[in-house]
Amino acid sequence: MKILAIYSNKGGVGKTTAAVNLSFLAAEAGLKTLVCDLDPQSSASYYFRVKPKLRANAKGFHKGGKNINKSIKGTDYENLDILPADFTHRNLASTFNKLKRRKRRLNRILDPLRAEYNLIVLDCPPSISLLAENIFNVADYLLVPVIPTTLCLRTHLQLLSFLKKKKYDTNKVYAFFSLVDRRKKMHKEFIATISREFKGTLHKSIPSLSNIERMGINREPVPAFSPTSQAAKYYRVLWQDVKATLLD
Ligand SMILES: Nc1ncnc2c1ncn2[C@@H]1O[C@H](COP(=O)(O)OP(=O)(O)O)[C@@H](O)[C@H]1O
Ligand SMILES: [Mg+2]
Repeated sequence: MKILAIYSNKGGVGKTTAAVNLSFLAAEAGLKTLVCDLDPQSSASYYFRVKPKLRANAKGFHKGGKNINKSIKGTDYENLDILPADFTHRNLASTFNKLKRRKRRLNRILDPLRAEYNLIVLDCPPSISLLAENIFNVADYLLVPVIPTTLCLRTHLQLLSFLKKKKYDTNKVYAFFSLVDRRKKMHKEFIATISREFKGTLHKSIPSLSNIERMGINREPVPAFSPTSQAAKYYRVLWQDVKATLLD
């Protein structure tokens, strides 16, 4: 059983998109998979057409995860369940802050589910607060989408130095390029330079493709509505690499 957090302190970098597509591909490959939507904007729940169940879910998370099973919902896909988010998730960090072992509340919530799943994918909100530390403590790996721009790289470097400072294992980090525009010379040059500097820590690339944006209209993972598309192919390549590098 592994816990994979799709994490970045930046919004709009492709976290939810990756969480939805990778968890679908994991389930398709036969892994019993749970997506845990930690973002109060609940986009992952939206993509999977799952309505957040306000009260029970909020209680599950806010009271240390008691009866968290009751908040889990099935999706339209075999092997794939979701723990939906609701708007009360915006208070998670302040709720955790009032509790004992405040940096390990997510461990407490997710530990009882370890026996039931092969993989738990966390769709994280942009945060470097207490919630982020809970994520760093519970996740076996952090999958970080990086848009090839100076600011996004800066955020990535900040994450690495934060992890080092707080003595988290930086080997847990698997970064990949996201929203790559191959027509942009700047993106190409940036990728070449960064790949050299980071020697093998920045892995595959997901280009910017309209089929990926279409997920919002179709409310399905790309490989579900367009299995042979370029977009699906890129996510399959990313999934195979994540699997080989982190999960096998
Ligand atoms: N590779 C991509 N190509 C085209 N659009 C993308 C791609 N990745 C993400 N998007 C779009 O960018 C926006 C932000 O993506 P999202 O996954 O929600 O980011 P985050 O979860 O990091 O905030 C969404 O509208 C999504 O459809
Ligand atoms: Mg998101």
